[in-house]
Amino acid sequence: METIRSSSDALLTIINDILDFSKIESGKLELESYPLNLRNCVEESLDFIASQAVTKKIELLYWLDPQIPDEIVGDVTRLRQILINLLNNAVKFTSQGEVFLSATVEKITPQEIPDHQLGLAEALPAPNPQGSSPLQLRFAVKDTGIGIPRDRLQRLFQSFSQVDSSITRKYGGTGLGLAISKHLCEMMQGTIGVESQVGQGSTFWFTILTHATPDPDTSESVIPPLELAGKRLLIVDANTTNCQILTLQTQSWGMFPQSVHSGTEALEQLSQQPDFDLSIV
Ligand SMILES: Nc1ncnc2c1ncn2[C@@H]1O[C@H](COP(=O)(O)OP(=O)(O)OP(=O)(O)O)[C@@H](O)[C@H]1O
Ligand SMILES: [Mg+2]
Repeated sequence: METIRSSSDALLTIINDILDFSKIESGKLELESYPLNLRNCVEESLDFIASQAVTKKIELLYWLDPQIPDEIVGDVTRLRQILINLLNNAVKFTSQGEVFLSATVEKITPQEIPDHQLGLAEALPAPNPQGSSPLQLRFAVKDTGIGIPRDRLQRLFQSFSQVDSSITRKYGGTGLGLAISKHLCEMMQGTIGVESQVGQGSTFWFTILTHATPDPDTSESVIPPLELAGKRLLIVDANTTNCQILTLQTQSWGMFPQSVHSGTEALEQLSQQPDFDLSIV
């Protein structure tokens, strides 16, 4: 029963990918333009692959730049589709270590839009009556997986392209995920790229052009806890990426964090500097 279900899920994914791809190729795919909560979008994408990551004992981590507005304008389904494609690959091609998703903001003005995107500035996702400036967001999915040979990097974004035929045998897939993601990013006036080292891991990144919702629904905003500002914090975590995420997050709340990687290091740190206000272990 389980086999039938997973085979039919896999088939459905392939059919959907082929349908999406032909819609994109024929110029029939249209993006929606509504306010979306980026944190929710990122967390839903992570939820989607969480069980795979748990089964493979891979840590899933993420970091959202606190400068990202609560709500941006765009197509949440298609943005989630890009994130899921990249996260899916990252988990699929990693056997141990971690997958780290980050989203950062680069504020830009229309003049700074790259040449090939000029003329598209008016096609920003929605009317922008309050004049909130365009935002370029950058997403990155970094893994500690098998990596990709340098001479194969460029071809990956073409349709039906996999590094070699052993990939299909071992991991399945049709080689459409990245081609679809590339088209979707370009429709969002962004670009997609990859950096990779064989045996070390890969970082797939992409940008999109959007803007903050003029009148956001703030009911879901994360309000920085004021009473934490100025406090000295000791972070104890064996995972370096986790320490970096906690450091950035707590710094954005005005805290003074310091991180160590083990209980022994924590005791050493405390013997030299006993005046921490609190600690995360
Ligand atoms: N994170 C990654 N690490 C190593 N190789 C990758 C990674 N992401 C993609 N690749 C390589 O790029 C190829 C193309 O990826 P793409 O997502 O387009 O196809 P796929 O995952 O093989 O199949 P599909 O996404 O259609 O199920 C993969 O087959 C793999 O060879
Ligand atoms: Mg894929």
